[in-house]
Amino acid sequence: MAKFEGIRACVFDAYGTLFDVHAPVAKLAAEIGEKADALSKLWRQKQLEYSWLRSLMGVHADFWHVTGDALDYALAFHGIDDPGLKDELMVLYLKLDAYPDAKPALEAIKSRNLRTAILSNGSPSMLDAAVRSAGLDKLLDEVLSVEDVGIYKPSRRVYRLAMQKFVIHDAPAICFVSSNCWDAQAAAQFGFQVARVDRFGLPDDKIPGKPRALIKSLGELPDLL
Ligand code: LAC
Repeated sequence: MAKFEGIRACVFDAYGTLFDVHAPVAKLAAEIGEKADALSKLWRQKQLEYSWLRSLMGVHADFWHVTGDALDYALAFHGIDDPGLKDELMVLYLKLDAYPDAKPALEAIKSRNLRTAILSNGSPSMLDAAVRSAGLDKLLDEVLSVEDVGIYKPSRRVYRLAMQKFVIHDAPAICFVSSNCWDAQAAAQFGFQVARVDRFGLPDDKIPGKPRALIKSLGELPDLL
């Protein structure tokens, strides 16, 4: 695979890329029963849908709120009436497991003196909790939240935030990494050099934007840079 050129900073999506969003339901799977997998997928799908809908409607609420609303919907859809379960799942969302390839990849990238950041839909307090609980705080120069711009990805205003924070004026100097196809493609359309991590075996979305690289795990990232 052709190497990325002229990269000065490496910017990561958080949820689904560094952190496993299905870990909370997986931890309580025995309690939830056979609907666990479908519940987790619908929770994630609705969380994203609500972020896009709110962005289009111009009615912003932070990702903690949206994540709670999405879980309410997913629980109601599956006929699960258990407020205690909701609270447990939300607490677990604050200490998501990092994927095992996340820390070694960040260490390798830092050792090359590249700047590193998260750029995420997550609210600052959610991201802070997840980053600390996964022990990634020392490996990240910046943890950037859409709360600084008040609209969700894939708004160009969000991707521009990374350039502003790093004072980088040319978008291709940023390597953006996401396992969310739509996020990877939108970031490529914006102008970043993008690596999509194919964690879920998904085809590209039928929207503009083409990542430069498709990798199976974050372990392949350092060799691209
Ligand atoms: C994020 C969402 C896309 O972390 O998962 O921004």
